[in-house]
Amino acid sequence: MNEDGRVRRSYDLYRRALELIPGGTQLISRRPTRYANGVSPVFASRARGARFWDVDGNEYIDWVSGIGAIILGYCDPVVDEAVRRQMASGTMYPINHELEIELAEELVRTIPCAEMVRYAKCGGEACAMAVRIARGVTGRDLVLFCGYHGWHDWYLAANLAAEANLDPHLFPGIDPTGVPRALAGTALPFPSGDLAVLGQLLDDHKGQVAAVIMEPLRSELPPAGYLDGVCKLCRQHGVVLIFDEVSSGFRIRVGGVQEYLGVMPDMAVFAKAISNGYPMAAVVGRREVMEPVGRMFISSTYWSDTIGLRAALTTIRELKRREVPAYLHRLGSDIQRRLNEAAEATDLAVRCGGLSVHPSLQFQTPDAALKSKLSTLYIQEMAKRGCHGYTSFYLNAAQGDAEVEQTVSAAREVFALMQEGLARDTLDRLLECDLQQDAFRRLVR
Ligand SMILES: Cc1ncc(COP(=O)(O)O)c(C=O)c1O
Repeated sequence: MNEDGRVRRSYDLYRRALELIPGGTQLISRRPTRYANGVSPVFASRARGARFWDVDGNEYIDWVSGIGAIILGYCDPVVDEAVRRQMASGTMYPINHELEIELAEELVRTIPCAEMVRYAKCGGEACAMAVRIARGVTGRDLVLFCGYHGWHDWYLAANLAAEANLDPHLFPGIDPTGVPRALAGTALPFPSGDLAVLGQLLDDHKGQVAAVIMEPLRSELPPAGYLDGVCKLCRQHGVVLIFDEVSSGFRIRVGGVQEYLGVMPDMAVFAKAISNGYPMAAVVGRREVMEPVGRMFISSTYWSDTIGLRAALTTIRELKRREVPAYLHRLGSDIQRRLNEAAEATDLAVRCGGLSVHPSLQFQTPDAALKSKLSTLYIQEMAKRGCHGYTSFYLNAAQGDAEVEQTVSAAREVFALMQEGLARDTLDRLLECDLQQDAFRRLVR
């Protein structure tokens, strides 16, 4: 770390955290090594709208939207007021609350594959629940997966059979310490976009596969017909198809990727944006798959917490009322066009592309080491100019003209600096931190 005075308190706190909290943070994506370590902020003190303030008093636009959990903006007045009213009536009871049914009805109206609903508190937990359900319903053990689905045993078990199984889906070097060795071979990865490989895996393990779980998309559309093909293969093999929409959900359409692409999984998992920052997750699915859950032991005290339920119900209604996906599409298209103009004006070989609701910068070089330097330098210099994020943009409805304007003018300066660094071969001198460690990589683009 090479922190300057601008973020001194953040890094003092981080050192304190490392003494008491193994790993320093609860979420790997909140470690400073994921950004510009020593320059990016590590501890926040407050947030509002599209922005947050760090413990050193610096103001930032949050281009990671609370790691995907914020979709209406921080402190959304409608959601927060609904939550406050709920708190005034108590948040937990010894018995159930009608909100559980109201939210289930809203999800069934909203998500194409949803006929029945169960709740959880976070994405990984909800994925684990979906996998348990699929195993229970089919009486089979094997799970085929693509992408990232949380920290639970069923998923990390992939690295017991071959230590690099998770490398392209998450990041390299994940040691499944603590995961029972007996689970080796129960979770197998498949690459995104290749029906032949998935078909072969299903043939090789005929009658043994309970579930195919995958992110239907992330920052690019899947190849035409791919998801339909996956659905068809799963039907042929009697496998439960689960879409993990923890990160993609609600942004491209309120009904998720399944509504946008017209592809129906058997089950889907939602979390993060579902409740605009309050802990909440949902597993939804076809009645036939979900009904047996009533006979399985899937049960937890806080899944009935009314804060998450109220926040989710209000967030989903507000997403519809404010037509948020259409807004995010316009916002993201504007960011892409204006960042591409800035790149052209500075001659830097970078393109902003991807889905409009999830724009991302691609440095146009085949040299992986150079790409990593350029990405880190971009994150570092944007952080100094009040823009917190990676080289991709997680959008929310509180971001608007002021945020785009500030970001594009910062990017113009940063692109020019990078172009000069490339021309004079001084990139290393411009870097004030170690290279950013691999962000969560996904095969799903
Ligand atoms: C696709 C996907 N699934 C599951 C998870 C895990 O969710 P959580 O961090 O809420 O447990 C994430 C988190 O980034 C995710 O992106």
